[in-house]
Amino acid sequence: MIAFDPLSSEERVRIVDLHPKIGDLRAEAVDGLRRSEKALPCKYFYDALGARLFEAITELPEYYPTRTEIGIMSRAVHEMAESIGPHATLVEFGSGVGLKTQKLLDALIEPSGCVLIDISKAALEASASQLADRYEDMEVIAVCADYTQPLRLPRPHRPSSRTIAFFPGSTLGNFAHDEAVSFLERVADLVGQGGGLLVGIDRKKDPKVIEAAYNDSLGVTAAFNLNILRRLNESGADFDLSTFRHHAPYVESEGRIEMRLVSEVDQSIRIGDAEVALSAGEHILTEYSHKYDLQQFEDMVRAAGFRLTRQWSDENDWFSVCFLEVEDAPA
Ligand code: AVJ
Repeated sequence: MIAFDPLSSEERVRIVDLHPKIGDLRAEAVDGLRRSEKALPCKYFYDALGARLFEAITELPEYYPTRTEIGIMSRAVHEMAESIGPHATLVEFGSGVGLKTQKLLDALIEPSGCVLIDISKAALEASASQLADRYEDMEVIAVCADYTQPLRLPRPHRPSSRTIAFFPGSTLGNFAHDEAVSFLERVADLVGQGGGLLVGIDRKKDPKVIEAAYNDSLGVTAAFNLNILRRLNESGADFDLSTFRHHAPYVESEGRIEMRLVSEVDQSIRIGDAEVALSAGEHILTEYSHKYDLQQFEDMVRAAGFRLTRQWSDENDWFSVCFLEVEDAPA
C-alpha cells in the first residue's frame, strides 16, 4: 500500500514546455501536393471550425464509432480500472479531456497522476487546471510537446505503480501502418516496463456500414473534409471549394477509408509562391482511417513490443477498446 502525503499546490499542477516545433502549414501543404498521389496532413482538419464539425460528425446517425466506444467504456470501465490496478499514472495524448477520459479517471482506483501531452499550450493549460479542480488528490502534469516525435515524460512527485497511456477514438487508425507501429513502439518506450496502453480501434465490418459513416446524408463529413481547403485559403491559397467533391471509399485491400477531395475540373492552384496543377478526376488524399481485424491488430502490437491482454467490444464487434501491456524484457 502506498501512503500518499497531501499534495502541495506546486505539486498539483505542473506545466512542462518542451517547445515543440510547429510545422508550417503552407510549406507542409505544398510538400504533400507535390507527391505523385497528392495529399494533405489530416491534423490540419482541426482548427476551431473543424473541431466543431467533428463534434457534429460524432452526433450523426451514420457515424457509429464515438457512441459505440462510449457505450463500451460505460459498460466496462470498472473492468478496465481493475486491469490497470491502483495508483497508476495515466497519460493522455491530445489535451482534450473528454468524456471517455473522465469516465476512466472516475473509475480508476486512487490514480496517482495524470500526464497530458499536447502541442497547443493554451489548450493544455485549460485542460490541466480543469482536471486539477475535478480531481483534487491527483497530480496533473501538462507537457507541451509533439507526441508524434520521441519524448521523455517528466517524473511525477508521487510514487506510482505503473504508467498507462490512453488513446481513444480510433485515432491510431489515422496513421499509415508503419507509422502506427512506430507510434506504438514510442508509447511502449514511454510507459516502460510494467506499463500499458488502453486504445480504441474501429473493427472491420460490412463496408456499407463503414462507407455510410464517412459519407453521411447531411454532408457534414464533406464539409469537414473541404474545411481543410478553406483553411489553406486563409494561408494564401486560392482553392475554389465548389470545384472539389468529397469522396470517401472503403479500400478493401488496405482495410481503410480514404478521405479524398476530387477535383472536378482541370485547374491550377496557387499556394503562396507555389503553383500546383490538378487534372479533372484527380484527387487529394486527406486522411486514412484504418479498420482492424483483431488478429491482425494483435500481430501489429506485438511487433511494437506490446501484448494484447484484454479487449472489450460492443455486441456487434464494431469497435474495441484494447488493453496492451509491455512485453517483459527477455531474461
Ligand atoms: C476521430 C480521427 C478517428 O477517422 O473516424 C471522422 C476522424 N474523419 N470522419 C475517424 C474522421 C472523418 C475520425 N478520428
